[in-house]
Amino acid sequence: MTLPGPSAPLYLDCDTGVDDSLALAYLLAAPEVDLVGVGSVSGNIDARQGAVNSLDLLALAGRDDVPVAVGAHDPLVGSYDGGAPSVHGRNGVGDVALPPSGREVTAESAVELLLRLSHEHAGLLRVVAVGPLTNLALALRADPTLPERVLDVTVMGGAALHPGNVTPAAEANIAKDPEAAAEVLAVDWDVTLVPLDVTMAHVFEEADRKALLEAGTALAPWLGEVLDLYFGFHVPTFGRRCSALHDPLAAAIAVGGVTPTVAPRVPVVVDATDGPGRGQTVCDLRGLYAGYPDVPGARTRVVLATDAPLAPHLVERLLTL
Ligand code: RIB
Ligand code: CA
Repeated sequence: MTLPGPSAPLYLDCDTGVDDSLALAYLLAAPEVDLVGVGSVSGNIDARQGAVNSLDLLALAGRDDVPVAVGAHDPLVGSYDGGAPSVHGRNGVGDVALPPSGREVTAESAVELLLRLSHEHAGLLRVVAVGPLTNLALALRADPTLPERVLDVTVMGGAALHPGNVTPAAEANIAKDPEAAAEVLAVDWDVTLVPLDVTMAHVFEEADRKALLEAGTALAPWLGEVLDLYFGFHVPTFGRRCSALHDPLAAAIAVGGVTPTVAPRVPVVVDATDGPGRGQTVCDLRGLYAGYPDVPGARTRVVLATDAPLAPHLVERLLTL
């Protein structure tokens, strides 16, 4: 994975959602990249509402220039499961009524937007995916040459040695479309997987949320409000109001804001069977006692540890919005 050049073009695929909102905002604040498009996918919320949430957040940041396209409502197999209202709210953004952007989604689908951007920025386009991988799989099916035009792909998803969060074996983004994840991880492109193993180690505290609430800027206070319900969801897990930073960590790793320190390239296979392991990311980490050397021929980099906590860097960047 090469670190971005100045303002590398970046496409974000997301199921905006609370932590997706933080990832979107982080990318808007990142001088290292130029957010050239956002695609929605059903996950935390349905794809259309997720797109509306992204439009509203972009408008608050003064970024109505960024196109937002609606992506897949259903996974490759089966149908949308109704999302995660107890986690992300009935509207996907913590049941906070964001000021409506007044802007429409693009006429393109998320797949059409991604493919168009891959031609416009051939060889330079960076992809960050923080929802189920349905759109990426459909784009690969529509145009198998897509990987030739994409610089790298960063995915928030999976669980390597960590338990799942929607089943004992599966993390939400993978579990909601295992077939798509299997297809995305099977093609020859440079993928960095950011699993629960590392995202659960990065926590946003009430003091961080308070800093956003008191920012006095256009977007940051809204992010503080959006986090309120999500903080309550994490009390049984962490024993206090706080939140894991799944999607913003993937975004920060993609732009170089946080550096992986343990991230071997290893074979990763997604269990797309209908057994108890459905949605599991089976990562070959048998190099555990040898310091996790890269496995020859493996493409997927699995991030297990990073150099610094994300939270202070995230607050610093979000306070500029
Ligand atoms: O498991 C965490 C992931 O599922 C995050 O992307 C969160 O937004 C949800 O989509
Ligand atoms: Ca997400």
